[in-house]
Amino acid sequence: MDTAKRLDGIGEYYFSQKLREIETLNNAGKKIINLGIGSPDLAPHPEVIRVLQDEASKPTTHAYQSYKGSPVLRGAVSDWYRRWYSVSLDPATEILPLLGSKEGIMHICMTYLNPGDRVLVPDPGYPTYTSAVKLAGGKPVPYKLTEKNNYEPAFTKLDKKMKKVKLMFVNYPQMPTGKLPSDGLFVKLVAFAKKHNILLVHDNPYSFILNEQPKSMLSVDGAKDHVLELNSLSKSHNMAGWRIGMLCGAANRINEVIRFKSNMDSGMFLPLQLAAAKALQLGREWHDELNAIYRGRREKVYELLDLLGCRYSADQAGLFVWAAIPPEYKDGYVLSDEVLYKAGVFLTPGGIFGDAGKKYIRVSLCAPVQRFEEAISRIGSMLASSTALSLQTTTL
Ligand SMILES: Cc1ncc(COP(=O)(O)O)c(C=O)c1O
Repeated sequence: MDTAKRLDGIGEYYFSQKLREIETLNNAGKKIINLGIGSPDLAPHPEVIRVLQDEASKPTTHAYQSYKGSPVLRGAVSDWYRRWYSVSLDPATEILPLLGSKEGIMHICMTYLNPGDRVLVPDPGYPTYTSAVKLAGGKPVPYKLTEKNNYEPAFTKLDKKMKKVKLMFVNYPQMPTGKLPSDGLFVKLVAFAKKHNILLVHDNPYSFILNEQPKSMLSVDGAKDHVLELNSLSKSHNMAGWRIGMLCGAANRINEVIRFKSNMDSGMFLPLQLAAAKALQLGREWHDELNAIYRGRREKVYELLDLLGCRYSADQAGLFVWAAIPPEYKDGYVLSDEVLYKAGVFLTPGGIFGDAGKKYIRVSLCAPVQRFEEAISRIGSMLASSTALSLQTTTL
């Protein structure tokens, strides 16, 4: 059976393939330490789990739910945005709960793109932006984020690329580079969207991780005219498998996206929504505790990267450390494969996030400290045996 043309050029998601390879290696007895994926290994708050259990045990919570989400969850999102981001959102019209923010990326593309419409996507950036644009018939136009330009868009260069551009994806704290939004960046982005009359989609799942001041692009004056913001409980509340995200923006935009989304799914399980509302009420101490753990792990990641001779900035936010590989490696794929096959440790090659990421690798913070220590010890042994081997060869 031929697959539809829209799948041409769309491969299986990199991690889905790589996890299969890691499973095969594990089945062959290698105990691979996977430091690739940003899936929090810690549990959600016990109160959140209690609400899920209590609500799931009621006979009245199992029916189909509203396409717009429960008013309780929308109210909790509105309070959360006011409390943390100083943004006012009407819970009735300006918030749409999602099954994780990833689906929102696809819904937005399907709602707004016609064949051939161009969409600016960050390079390096989350690969789903590119595939969702392609699946919706649009044309992704990568814009480079370089260390030299502080991982911010080069606006003057972009001004010349704007023909037929309808949408632009942005994401700060940026994944994979860990770059925080500098003062004034969001204002510049909104002004850019206004100047070119495009829809700016800000993807904001990392604002609470290793960052003291969560920011929303919707806090910029007039942002709702040009910005849709995606947010998520996956990383901030250790709920990646629950699939809880949200889309926030002007009522008209939300209604437009509902026209598409309501044809795709039939609402979210009510106990999940009520438990998510509970999670959104957690205070600063929740985030402080999580961040203290991530900070401890990050120290270990620095040790691992130092061992490999990688270079990194120490003021990154989010669930990863992004690091430049040493010059003797052709690219991050070569380094990643060497460490996978010789030390049994998986690190993500930066090239999967776009060409501009080729000379980098990304290390996830989603593993306990002992796993990092084990990874460091394995990589240490790998390096020691390759030094021994090269000494032997020189002597011979
Ligand atoms: C930048 C970025 N956006 C969106 C997502 C998707 O998150 P969710 O679990 O809310 O679908 C991820 C997940 O890794 C991500 O890194």
